[in-house]
This record gives sequence, structure tokens and C-alpha cells, in this order.
Amino acid sequence: MASDLSLLLIVALVAALSFSQALARDPGALQDFCVADSMSKVIVNGFTCKNPELVKVDDFFLSGLNVPRSTMNKVASNVTLINANIIPGLNTLGISMARVDYAPRGLNPPHIHPRATELQTVLEGSLYVGFITSNPENKLVTKVLNKGDVFVFPQGLIHFQFNLGRTRALAMSFLSSQNPGVITIANTIFGSKPNISDDILSKAFQVDKKTIDWIQSQF
Ligand SMILES: *[C@@H]1O[C@H](CO)[C@@H](O)[C@H](O)[C@H]1NC(C)=O
Ligand SMILES: *[C@@H]1O[C@H](CO)[C@@H](O)[C@H](O)[C@H]1NC(C)=O
Repeated sequence: MASDLSLLLIVALVAALSFSQALARDPGALQDFCVADSMSKVIVNGFTCKNPELVKVDDFFLSGLNVPRSTMNKVASNVTLINANIIPGLNTLGISMARVDYAPRGLNPPHIHPRATELQTVLEGSLYVGFITSNPENKLVTKVLNKGDVFVFPQGLIHFQFNLGRTRALAMSFLSSQNPGVITIANTIFGSKPNISDDILSKAFQVDKKTIDWIQSQF
């Protein structure tokens, strides 16, 4: 009897574990759409649904992604992210996209999307792109992409794109979350508010504190 019970418990535990693994992704949709209701005060994972009878075609629409973006900034690139905050109809659907403009020598600096895999295609110019695998290998995987080429940046890995060419480059990215999130490595490590103490960063980066203070002052 007691062993029957413990067997049952183990079966239940295994079932619960595999179930929670399945839920680590967006749950399967239970309706055609769940257009974001930006007025709702209810806090959920994502946004609550707008009354379907009030949903308009424009909840699924955006124009203007053809317009080149300004790259007059320190890294000479500009990411225009189109997520569920921009198109409410994307809520619960597990996808978003970005237009990325690069001036010559423009860099989309090393960053992570904590919640999405990215699929990128080059529409103009050429890009040197790469990602780094996790510990302990830390293998750098790179490729030069030309117009029409497609590349995958796996979820959670540090990646970057650099415009090696003499002309502007343009890429479109598609991401497997309605809200992929971005962690730009340099900005978060050296530009956090309040800043991380130079004691910690000098040990982590194996350089003296003055060097850390100088880098922090750049962010
Ligand atoms: C990106 O481009 C838009 C439109 O040109 C501009 O308003 C914005 O400031 C740019 N962002 C950066 C970081 O340069
Ligand atoms: C970092 O923060 C400390 C206080 O926590 C401050 O004394 C120091 O000046 C800051 N450094 C930079 C580079 O902002």
C-alpha cells in the first residue's frame, strides 16, 4: 500500500515536471487572437485580451517599416523593434520582428534576447554576424551575410552584427516571442544604475579599477 502510494507520487511528480517543461513556452492559443488591451489594469503574462467585438483591422497592422532610420549614434546602427506593444494583435502569438539599419562600420553591439530565437535576413549590403556558445566552449560562430542570406541566432546566446561594407546595410529580423527583450552586454555591465562596483568588475574582467572606472564613464 505504502509502496503503491510512493509509486503514484513518483508518477505524479514526473508528469508534473514534464508538464511544467511544456509550459516553459507560450501556451497554445485558446482563441483566434487576443488583441492587447492596453487600458486593462489586470497584470498578466503579456496583456489581457480586448473584447473581440471591439477589435479593428488596424490592431493587426503597421506601416512605415520601409523608411530608413537614423544611424547618427555611437554604434552607427538603429534597431526598430515591432513587438506586441507596437502591434496589439501580436499579443499571445509568440512572434515579433525588427528592422535594423547599419551605417558603414555600423555595429549592432553584442546582446542577448532572453526570450527569443532570432532569424535574420539581409536586404541591402553585407554584414559580418556571429554568436558565442555558452560555457565552457564559448565558441565564436561567424559568417559574412550578403543580400538574401539568412542566419539564426539561438535563444539566449550573445550575438552581434557588423557592417563591413562601404554602403549602408539593411536587415529584417523575426523573433520567437511577442516581447523578446534585449540585454546589451556593454550597456548593462558598465552602464547599470546604480553602477556595479569597480571592485567586482576589475576582478571579473581582470583589469585594474581605473580601467573599469574609465569604461563606466563612457556609458
Ligand atoms: C532611430 O531612428 C529614429 C528615426 O529615424 C530616430 O528617431 C531614433 O532616434 C533613432 N535611434 C537611435 C538610437 O539612433
Ligand atoms: C559608481 O558608483 C559609485 C557609488 O556607488 C560612485 O562613487 C562612482 O563615482 C560611480 N562611478 C562611475 C564611473 O559612475
